[in-house]
Amino acid sequence: MSTHIGAQPGEIAERVLMPGDPLRAKWIAETYLEDAKCYSTVRGMFGFTGRWQGTEVSVQGSGMGMPSASIYAHELINEYGVKSLIRVGSCGAIVDELNLRDVIAANGSATDSNMNRVRFDGLIDYAPVADFGLLRTSVEVAGRRGVEMTVGPVLAADAFYTDRPDLYDRLADYGVLAVEMESAALYTIAARFRAKALTLLTVSDHIKRGEKTTAQEREQTFGQMVEIALDTITA
Ligand code: HPA
Repeated sequence: MSTHIGAQPGEIAERVLMPGDPLRAKWIAETYLEDAKCYSTVRGMFGFTGRWQGTEVSVQGSGMGMPSASIYAHELINEYGVKSLIRVGSCGAIVDELNLRDVIAANGSATDSNMNRVRFDGLIDYAPVADFGLLRTSVEVAGRRGVEMTVGPVLAADAFYTDRPDLYDRLADYGVLAVEMESAALYTIAARFRAKALTLLTVSDHIKRGEKTTAQEREQTFGQMVEIALDTITA
């Protein structure tokens, strides 16, 4: 096993979906994967491997925020040979054009995290981006499934609760669609270790309008996004 994942070598597929919530990982495995087996319960951060339409896929919880997501992405790629990762998460919209339950593919990720400032000695503002091949496939898959997916940049924020909502307005002026908490770290680590990564998000709340989805709505739209992610990662 690696430091934070209790799997034996070979128990994790080369293709991994990463929800933040470990119980979502369990739900995805039980709802969508054939012959799903749990390979890790370390820290309650469940991981499962099963098959989607004949292809092996794993689902690994990442926890909330970039420090947690970085640990799982790093170990999946470096200790278990994972080649592609799709984060399936939720986000808070900051632009008028988006509505609750919309699906977003994050082509790039602005961040207020200090992780990449440390990485580049504070000299470079590194631009974390999605893998183009996965992004293109996800757009095709969404189109085939009749889902109007919005593609654009998001903010990966360190804090869920902010003292500076004005910065969200400024980011929206620059085309940033929504706020979540993991994509910048996932894209950076995937780039560093030559893996492919993408972030798909459903709008669970609208930060500007103060709207929220119900638990039932979240499950339904989350499912639609998971199906896009599974078709994309196995394409
Ligand atoms: N902020 C950060 N992450 C989120 C949010 C939010 O408002 N909503 C869902 N994920």
